[in-house]
Amino acid sequence: MIRTVATTPFDDQKPGTSGLRKKVPVFQQAHYAENFIQSIFDALSGFEGKTLVVGGDGRYYNREVIQKVVAMAAANGFGRLMIGQGGILSTPAASHLIRKYKAFGGIILSASHNPGGPKEDFGIKYNAENGGPAPEKITDAIYARSKEIREYRIADIDEVDIDTIGKVEVEGMTVEVVDPVRDYADMMESLFDFNALRRLFDSGFRMRFDAMHAVTGPYAKEIFERRLGAAEGTCRNFRPLPDFGGHHPDPNLVHAKHLYDEMMGPDAPDFGAASDGDGDRNLIIGKGIFVTPSDSLALLAANARVAPAYAAGLAGIARSMPTSGAADRVAQKLGIGLYETPTGWKFFGNLLDAGMATICGEESAGTGSSHVREKDGLWAVLLWLSILAARGESVKEIVETHWAEFGRNYYSRHDYEKVETTRADGLIEELRGRLPDLPGTQVRGLTVETADDFAYHDPVDGSVSEHQGIRILFAGGSRVVFRLSGTGTSGATLRVYIERYEPDAARHGLDTQQALADLIAAADEIAGIRRHTGRDRPSVIT
Ligand code: G6P
Ligand code: ZN
Repeated sequence: MIRTVATTPFDDQKPGTSGLRKKVPVFQQAHYAENFIQSIFDALSGFEGKTLVVGGDGRYYNREVIQKVVAMAAANGFGRLMIGQGGILSTPAASHLIRKYKAFGGIILSASHNPGGPKEDFGIKYNAENGGPAPEKITDAIYARSKEIREYRIADIDEVDIDTIGKVEVEGMTVEVVDPVRDYADMMESLFDFNALRRLFDSGFRMRFDAMHAVTGPYAKEIFERRLGAAEGTCRNFRPLPDFGGHHPDPNLVHAKHLYDEMMGPDAPDFGAASDGDGDRNLIIGKGIFVTPSDSLALLAANARVAPAYAAGLAGIARSMPTSGAADRVAQKLGIGLYETPTGWKFFGNLLDAGMATICGEESAGTGSSHVREKDGLWAVLLWLSILAARGESVKEIVETHWAEFGRNYYSRHDYEKVETTRADGLIEELRGRLPDLPGTQVRGLTVETADDFAYHDPVDGSVSEHQGIRILFAGGSRVVFRLSGTGTSGATLRVYIERYEPDAARHGLDTQQALADLIAAADEIAGIRRHTGRDRPSVIT
């Protein structure tokens, strides 16, 4: 019943920031998904008889690939598969299941916040036994294997029913279909004071949560409306759809503009939040105020003690290099470590495993803690709710008080999407070449203090990751960072991260783009953005 199928390698199966992401038609090529799945298994060892967790964000092609994983895991000797009912598992919920049931690892099918559908994006990612995205050592091995693969193993079996909770035996392997929500919701209940949150909603607190027709819908319904007693209708767009209703399930000010508009309107609820395709990102908006992900990280860290899980304090805070320095000031005040990692959640894994960091976050709308090894959108919402319940102030008051105490890091990211790859690479190459000459030069009235290509030295395992983004630091602490996205599926995306620290509370009410105008102009002058990309403005500003 087990077949060995001859195949030839594909040369484009290099995992990016977060697994392999391609358009659905690429994954639909004969042997394409199978090659990558077998390359994952070939890069691992010692999984015979062990458990593999499998689930995805429900996007188009999710169910088909789950069937392939079942047939191939059975043929490769796994002992048990744990699959979320309907093939659904949010990324943090998958991470939790791997940890809770001591699985060997997990396969998560998602392209996160990218659109879904027959012509849109799909992705496959491997998570290791700590519940986190495979470290580079493993993803490099997967890629190397994908370039040499000559055969894969697959069991000839009927389609397995993934919609009914229960267990079946398949070729000597147990397939267990589990409730995708329960374990996760139970964990949230163990981290936060649900009684306090119930009282908050009882007192008339109004919230809007937008699941963007993606994976968090069933989780949010269970947690907010059923367990916490939020009014029915609190969760919007809560039914996961294979094409996310035709939208980008990306909780930012462009794709969740309706939520932003509602929160700025006269009848705004007290709190607005959204999550992305696979449930690991979050968007936080208070009545009349958007909270940047970088500020959110700093605020969550500064106030985490209100939640039982963090009452004893934090071991440390970690943020990705392009994320603003707001969290650094909190770490300093708390007297705890601050770690600066490259973009990509996988880099937090070692720090969390080693107990060096408790809370982590990225400018790309991800925050999370040591409770799992992924970022976690609903966790961030629950911690925000806990802070609101404990402090009895509005989001706006809490943010402004924080700025008054720590200063404000004005921050914005400008994305230039779908730039021709050669042109984007050309920009970065040229910039890299100029790095030694930049310090000391004047640009738009700003003096360049240092300029480098960020390299990360992992303090836990000593590994080094180079070329993780170009940083230009100006006298006075402002900075501009340039890097190319590692998650896109067409062309290149240039990301420009712009930041200015403002200690003076009298200057905390400026418009962000205005507060950063000179830095934005300097970024263009230094990198020649217009000249290289042919664009005169970014396609997305967050
Ligand atoms: C995913 C990763 C994050 C990363 C983000 C942006 O969400 O999980 O860790 O920050 O993508 O990555 P990019 O390479 O596109 O800037
Ligand atoms: Zn995501």
